[in-house]
Amino acid sequence: MTPVFLLRLVLDCTAAGLLLFAFAYFWQGNAAHELAGIGMFVLLIIHNAFHRRWFAALPKVPRERRAKFNTAMTMMLLAGMVALLATSLTISETLFAGLRLDDDSTARLIHAGIAYWLLLIVAIHLGLRWPLLMAAARKLLGIAHANAARTAVLRLMAIGIAVQGVSSVFALNLRSRLLFRISLDWWNFEESVVGFFGHCMAVAGLCMFLTYYSMQWLQHRKRVSASGRPAPRTQVMKHNPQPERLQKD
Ligand code: HEM
Ligand code: HEM
Repeated sequence: MTPVFLLRLVLDCTAAGLLLFAFAYFWQGNAAHELAGIGMFVLLIIHNAFHRRWFAALPKVPRERRAKFNTAMTMMLLAGMVALLATSLTISETLFAGLRLDDDSTARLIHAGIAYWLLLIVAIHLGLRWPLLMAAARKLLGIAHANAARTAVLRLMAIGIAVQGVSSVFALNLRSRLLFRISLDWWNFEESVVGFFGHCMAVAGLCMFLTYYSMQWLQHRKRVSASGRPAPRTQVMKHNPQPERLQKD
């Protein structure tokens, strides 16, 4: 793994951390929220500068179904982040207070709603890159060989996170937030801070789980129909479209 790729991953993790922190608006207050949000946007500009060739190749590369889904998700992510930034500027109370709208109540509602949609879309974005991230983790931890017990434990943990994610959807009252509804049942940070972040991460984990396993299932189906018979299990598990980038980047 090259140092540049490692740096990219560190920046990606920091952006994800700032995104999570920004959800806890009522924990540290407005200034911390705005600083974290702007920090994340700066990192995303760097993130996209690293991937400029991906955008340049978009019109040229013929795309299969998985790649089309990936492209659609990336475009939604881009549009969502631009909208989040635009609403941020119109409701800012600290960093860009001069740009604030006189009546910003709708912009506030849109800001919070888009933010929760983005939590889900970023998680799908990560779920689509899970093989790459797992390959990076294996490399960093020096894991060279498969181990059935380790795989089983990790899969059980993934199932546990996904199950918790379903109950966290209700704990965060995600439905009304995603529907851009006004909600007065704010999370009480005096009761628990860890609980809030735990629920946000569990919801993101659920989306990653569903994305990753849906992609695995689609790939498996494609291989089966291409060969006319079920692919051997090891072949399916080893198939991984992205880790070669660990060497290339
Ligand atoms: C990572 C980027 C950001 C995310 C994910 C995010 C998310 C949110 C969320 C979820 C809320 C509602 C709080 C709640 O209901 O619990 C909120 C409120 C707010 N955000 Fe952001 N935000 C981000 C960036 C920014 C930036 C950059 C600014 C300004 C420069 C900003 C200004 C505000 C303000 C003023 C509120 C209060 C709105 C109200 O009183 O209803 N946010 N944000
Ligand atoms: C907090 C938000 C985000 C996180 C945590 C995140 C994370 C990642 C990670 C881990 C990767 C793979 C490793 C790498 O190449 O760096 C990646 C790739 C990528 N991301 Fe993001 N990302 C975020 C937001 C965005 C946004 C807003 C865009 C804009 C459209 C974007 C576009 C891309 C592209 C184009 C790739 C390469 C895709 C590919 O090679 O298939 N990401 N992202």
